[in-house]
Amino acid sequence: MSPEQKQIVRNTWQEVAPQGDMAAQLFYNRLFEIDPSSRPLFQDVDLRKQRTKLLQALSDAVQGLDAPDALVPVLEDLGRRHADYGVTDDHYDSVGAALLWALEQGLGPDWTPEAKEAWAEAYALISGVMRHAGH
Ligand code: HEM
Repeated sequence: MSPEQKQIVRNTWQEVAPQGDMAAQLFYNRLFEIDPSSRPLFQDVDLRKQRTKLLQALSDAVQGLDAPDALVPVLEDLGRRHADYGVTDDHYDSVGAALLWALEQGLGPDWTPEAKEAWAEAYALISGVMRHAGH
């Protein structure tokens, strides 16, 4: 990712953060719609708490894009736990699609082609580390 792309990701994240919980609700609804196989994974999970955890983890990752040495081990641990939850590569693809879609809803006109590209790269990076550690 270029420095400009990291900046775009940080700026757009700040913009959606105030409505983060709503965006996260949209995100989960969308995820379960496009990938029903992800629903059973969350069967015994309190989605209200889960939204907060997801948002916090994403915030940390966005903040950490410039400091990969600190970020990578955290993501590796997270990826190993996700493998234990039963999360597959296909699930990561679905989550990426649902996340970008939710950001688009939250950002409206600020969801530019550049923002989309920057977020796609950021998600590929973050999920790539998690996936790799889970294999
Ligand atoms: C960038 C990608 C992701 C991030 C940042 C993320 C973040 C988190 C965090 C912080 C937790 C709390 C528990 C923990 O720390 O281990 C969690 C739990 C969970 N995640 Fe993710 N996650 C991601 C991708 C996924 C994907 C692709 C799936 C599958 C659809 C998934 C399914 C779950 C489930 C089922 C739990 C709950 C586990 C339980 O409490 O039983 N996550 N996630």
